Amino acid sequence: MSSLPILIVYYSLNGGTRLLARHIAEGVDSVSGCEALLRTVPKVSAVCEAVAADVPDEGSPYATLEELQNCAALALGSPTRFGNMAAPVKYFLDGSSALWLSGSLIGKPACVFTSGSSPHGGQESTLLSMMTPLLHHGMLICGLPYSEAGLSHTTGGGTPYGPSHLARHGEKIALSEHEKQLAFAQGRRLAQMAVKLMKD
Ligand SMILES: Cc1cc2nc3c(=O)[nH]c(=O)nc-3n(C[C@H](O)[C@H](O)[C@H](O)COP(=O)(O)O)c2cc1C
Repeated sequence: MSSLPILIVYYSLNGGTRLLARHIAEGVDSVSGCEALLRTVPKVSAVCEAVAADVPDEGSPYATLEELQNCAALALGSPTRFGNMAAPVKYFLDGSSALWLSGSLIGKPACVFTSGSSPHGGQESTLLSMMTPLLHHGMLICGLPYSEAGLSHTTGGGTPYGPSHLARHGEKIALSEHEKQLAFAQGRRLAQMAVKLMKD
């Protein structure tokens, strides 16, 4: 049997959200029968619609609607921007109405993750903002339970709504141990849920 594709779609300008995505991918790949697909989305421009190259110069390839349609589960990541998701992530979602019409994502598990630079600057509201369109798609939102000890002990990112990174001003982008553990746990939990749902 071929592996279940677990799609991880993120946007990241400075690398914080990208690092979370990689740890979520490790969690996904730790589940037998699941394969993480790391994908990004292009920047958008307020001046005109820029035409991006088919494949970015570096990092993950761009996500396609076909990959979204065929995924067994989705992890969606964005930097925190004014307490909300970044425009490139919203733009990607706004292009997914054909999948809404066909109901392709109904019943698939999904989780969300973010990176933000201030401890009370809207990481949770960003995560909640990303859940809304996924609920419209009929996806089953999967968060992080408090049985994950890191949630109670983290002094950086990590929330019950999903993994996050606190990118402190002026510091090098690097995840704390708790942030890594929680991102891994989220990827593993998402993949486990996809496997269970596939059996039903
Ligand atoms: C336009 C803009 C708005 C931002 N708004 C917030 C915010 O509301 N709260 C916050 O904590 N950080 C905010 N930030 C900081 C980013 O969330 C932070 O740098 C994050 O780590 C970037 O993620 P990345 O490393 O994946 O690009 C903002 C950054 C930009 C450029």
